[in-house]
Amino acid sequence: MLFHLLNVITAYKPNKFSKQIKKATKEKHDAIESHPFIRAMIDGSLSDFKYAVYLANLLPIYKAVEMFLFTKNNNSNIVQSKKILEDLSNYSQILNFKFDIEDCPQICFNTEWLKYFLSKSDFFKKVELYIRWLADMYGGQIIKKNITFTKKYEFYNLRQCIQQVRQQIEDGLDETNVDRFIEEVNKAYEFHHKLADKIHECSEQSIREA
Ligand code: HEM
Repeated sequence: MLFHLLNVITAYKPNKFSKQIKKATKEKHDAIESHPFIRAMIDGSLSDFKYAVYLANLLPIYKAVEMFLFTKNNNSNIVQSKKILEDLSNYSQILNFKFDIEDCPQICFNTEWLKYFLSKSDFFKKVELYIRWLADMYGGQIIKKNITFTKKYEFYNLRQCIQQVRQQIEDGLDETNVDRFIEEVNKAYEFHHKLADKIHECSEQSIREA
């Protein structure tokens, strides 16, 4: 696993702006990495139900990124929404619960963020491409060890996928916009942190009975 992760980390040599982003957002990354909800994913103590609620809240964000930033010719390996739908459908079957936030408002914790995301220009929408896709490609390779359905973290030729996503992020990134990009990444980490808080705090029973 260590070798695999090293292989992934060295997949692409980030440019100076990417390095600047990583450095300036490290504190927030490390905070979310050690969030009890994420830790529970890693040690296998997170329930399938809560993980599925988490996936259901991420799905619209992935869909929006893909709608605005991907083209029909995109590498199908990084179209995450399809994989998430497959995972969610499997969770629905084993848990006998329909994880559809439109039909089920009690599991919907992303409305404000989605509104904010949609108000941004396409360039700054790339912040979610950065946060979510790289999280799946790096941290996800560790997380998937203790998750029941892991389609979201499966990438054919992971190194190439990382390269593609990083190149798309770096395209147009320069000294005029890197500071704002960093600001937006930090905001996005805060949203993801709060999302983890909310799902961590609620109980399966309260959701099922709502
Ligand atoms: C299980 C918890 C996690 C672990 C163990 C983990 C680990 C890692 C590792 C090893 C890297 C590569 C660092 C490098 O290039 O030197 C990375 C990158 C990254 N992770 Fe995580 N991560 C976790 C959770 C998350 C979460 C929950 C998010 C966001 C919601 C996230 C977002 C990112 C991003 C955006 C990068 C790219 C950083 C950059 O190179 O600019 N990670 N992570």
